[in-house]
Amino acid sequence: MDYILSKDLKAHLNKEVLLKGWVYNFRSSGKLFFLQFRDGYGTLQAIANKDQVPEGLKLETSCEIVGTVSKHPKKEEYELHVKEFKVIQIPKQDYPISKKDHGPEFLLDNRHLWLRSSKQWAVMRVRDTIIRAVYDFFHEQGFIKIDSPILTPNACEGTTTLFPVEYFDLGKAYLSQSGQLYLEAAVMSLGKVYDFGPVFRAEKSKTRKHLTEFWMMDAEMAFYEHKENMKVQEDMVCYIIKKVLAENKIELNILERKIEDLEKIKAPFYHIDHKKACEKLGADPSDDFGAEDELKLANSYDKPVFVEKYPAKVKAFYMKRDPQDESRVLCNDLLAPGLGEIIGGSQREDDYDKLLARIKEQNLPEKDFQWYLDLRQYGSVPHAGFGLGLERCVQWLTGIAHIRESIPFPRLINRLKP
Ligand code: 4AD
Ligand code: MG
Repeated sequence: MDYILSKDLKAHLNKEVLLKGWVYNFRSSGKLFFLQFRDGYGTLQAIANKDQVPEGLKLETSCEIVGTVSKHPKKEEYELHVKEFKVIQIPKQDYPISKKDHGPEFLLDNRHLWLRSSKQWAVMRVRDTIIRAVYDFFHEQGFIKIDSPILTPNACEGTTTLFPVEYFDLGKAYLSQSGQLYLEAAVMSLGKVYDFGPVFRAEKSKTRKHLTEFWMMDAEMAFYEHKENMKVQEDMVCYIIKKVLAENKIELNILERKIEDLEKIKAPFYHIDHKKACEKLGADPSDDFGAEDELKLANSYDKPVFVEKYPAKVKAFYMKRDPQDESRVLCNDLLAPGLGEIIGGSQREDDYDKLLARIKEQNLPEKDFQWYLDLRQYGSVPHAGFGLGLERCVQWLTGIAHIRESIPFPRLINRLKP
């Protein structure tokens, strides 16, 4: 007998079907046994007679069940009346994750099992939708995917957060912090490009928003300037949200994420200059925001806000100066309500001499950046781009409190296992 998936139950109303999966929860009541059954695609309630289920049934027992599909008398839900319950394996010991509250460290130690919990299941499915939305968006917009290298000789985002690796006779290599510099080369060949892969930051920040390994999507566009860059970001975020709303209502409900709040997020997003934002916050306009100020600002809006033109001294060497105020750069962070930064982007310095001066100012090894400087030597053009942190986006859209649940196996400064 072919087995069916829980999500397709409705199509088999009143028919006898076979399902394969795990016992997620169970309770007995008189002669009846109510099983919550999960198969990877969803959950369903299966109702059995007590004598049909084995003695000593445990949570996470793997099994095959044959039964008849019926509709819940009151709800728009389908359930299974069990005819046959066949055990594949009864767990050798009690499943460590119960329905009671566990501390985060315990759950993270058991991440390999925790992934089975319905909330984690839902987060991973939303994550998958976001990844696909990013690919679909860029494909539809005529971008070409360029895979940037992970082993690199130079820093993209500052030298203080690099993971070094011994690289044969060539000395030290570093794990990539962002593929951006490579995309700037590719964009001169292909016009509009993006990458999507793991990046690494040896950041000593132990916050609810920082991982040491995360997935980043960088996009880069030739002939695009600061304003056009933000438009692409806005379009992409709206595209992602639309797809998540279309595909993940069940998951958002499990996560108790208010669907109306996401439905409200439509273009145009808000814009504010960094300087204005500092006035609003009573913060120092010549410095970067502190985490608290950033969140306060993000939370003062019901939609994402572009914060533009940060002071040059707090941003990376490659950003182009604002011609109207040389102390600032043509950049933007996109802040999401409830979370803060999800995207960082900028127009890039396209003048050889100015870029060289920045590299020298920041004491970066000039010879390692010669190839990057070359791009300003052979038909340089204005160009811009941005990077979206996948896990930040997952965290925001699912509403989970901590970024560690947004990636299958999180890497944090104090955690490398499992
Ligand atoms: O703002 P960032 O550092 O920008 C760049 O790396 C640029 N080179 C991107 C570009 O222009 N192509 O990082 C981009 C995004 C941030 O907005 C944030 O969402 C995410 O990456 N991010 C992190 N996510 C999780 N953990 C961390 N430690 C992160 N650091 C940055
Ligand atoms: Mg940033």
